[in-house]
Amino acid sequence: MTKKHIRTSIFLVIMVLCSYGCNSESPTAKEATKMSINKEAFGTTPDGKAVDLYTLTNANGLKAEIMTYGGIVTKLQAPDRNGNFADIVLGFDSLDEYIKGHPYFGAIIGRYANRIAKGKFTIDGTEYTLATNNGRNHLHGGIKGFDKVVWNAKELKTEQAVGVELSYRSGDGEEGYPGNLSCIVTYTLTNDNELKIGYEAETDKPTIVNLTNHSYFNLAGHDSGSILGHELMLNADRYTLADDELIPTGEIKSVKGTPLDFTKPMAIGSRIEQVKGGYDHNYVINNLDGSLTLAASVYEPKTGRVLEAFTTQPGVQLYTGGFLDGSNKGKGAVYNKYNGFCLETQHFPDSPNKPAFPSVVLKPGEKYTQLTIYKFSVR
Ligand code: GLA
Repeated sequence: MTKKHIRTSIFLVIMVLCSYGCNSESPTAKEATKMSINKEAFGTTPDGKAVDLYTLTNANGLKAEIMTYGGIVTKLQAPDRNGNFADIVLGFDSLDEYIKGHPYFGAIIGRYANRIAKGKFTIDGTEYTLATNNGRNHLHGGIKGFDKVVWNAKELKTEQAVGVELSYRSGDGEEGYPGNLSCIVTYTLTNDNELKIGYEAETDKPTIVNLTNHSYFNLAGHDSGSILGHELMLNADRYTLADDELIPTGEIKSVKGTPLDFTKPMAIGSRIEQVKGGYDHNYVINNLDGSLTLAASVYEPKTGRVLEAFTTQPGVQLYTGGFLDGSNKGKGAVYNKYNGFCLETQHFPDSPNKPAFPSVVLKPGEKYTQLTIYKFSVR
C-alpha cells in the first residue's frame, strides 16, 4: 500500500467512526443540529440605518422571521395537520413596503399599546401631552412608535430554543413620554413550537408603559382570505366598554348574552355582523394576578392549525382586521377586511386615565416584565 492509500484508509475509518458517533447522539444534540439562526441584511431606512432580518428555525422546521425595524415578525411558517408548512402572518417582502406605511403588521407596539384619550395623562401632579395620531387620541405609541424604530439585536441559542434579543432606548420626551426608557423584547422559538415574547423595561423618571406585539394571523395561510371560519375561545368573561372613539368608558361589562361572548369556542364570523366594523375590543382575561394564563385559543378547521395565546397581561385586544381594505398587498396577497386577526395582549386601553384599571405606571428602580407565548399545534 502506498502512503496515499494508507492516508485514504485512515480518513475512511475516521469518517465511519464519526457517522457512528452521530447516530448515537442524544435526541437533544440531534435537535440542536437542526435548529438555526440566520442573519441577513434587509435594507436601509431613509435615515441611513441598516436593518437586519433574523430567521429562527426550530428542530421541527418552524420558522420565524423577525427584522430589527419595528421588531416586526415578517413571516411565520407552521405545519398543518398533514405536515404542510404555510406562512401564517400578514406582512410584506421588502423593508420599503413596511416603511411606506401599514397597519402595524407583526410589530412591537410601544411605549403604549392602544389608545390614550386626547394623548394626555398625569403622574404625581404633572400633566404630560403625547403625540396624537388617531383623531384627537394617542394610538400605539404615537407618530413614531416602537414599530418604526430600529432595534439592536443579539442572537440567543439554548438546547431547546433559538431567539433574538432586541433592545431599544427611548429618550426622555420621545412622543411626549417622560423618562429615558430602556426596553428589551426577546423573541424565542422553542422546540415545543412556541413563539415566546418577553418584554422588559426600566425608566429613570416615573412613566407609563404597555408593550405588545401586533401580529395579524391567518391560520389557513396569510394569503387565504377570510378568517371568519376560525373558531375562537377567549378566556374572558368581561370586556372594557368603549365609546365611539374606542376609548374605554371605565365600565367593565359581562360578555354574557352578547356577540362578544367567546367563552365557548365559536366561529369568529358567527355573530360579527352584529358588531360594527368587526371586533376591536379589549377583553379582561379571567386572571388578573400576573401569572401566565391561557388567554385565547384559535382553531382553523380546514388545515387543523391551532394557536394558543398565553400571557401574564390582564387584557387582550381582539382585532379582526376591520380596517384592512385591500390597499395593503403583501407577499403576493391582497389583504382585505377580515383577512387577519390580532390577539394583542396588553394592559387596558387608556389605563393612565382610569384609576380603577390595573396600573401601568413604572417608577425608577422598578422593572416592567411581561411574557406572551403564541403556541402552535394541530388538531
Ligand atoms: C388596534 C386598534 C385598532 C386598529 C388596529 C390597527 O387593534 O385597536 O383600532 O388601530 O390596531 O389598525
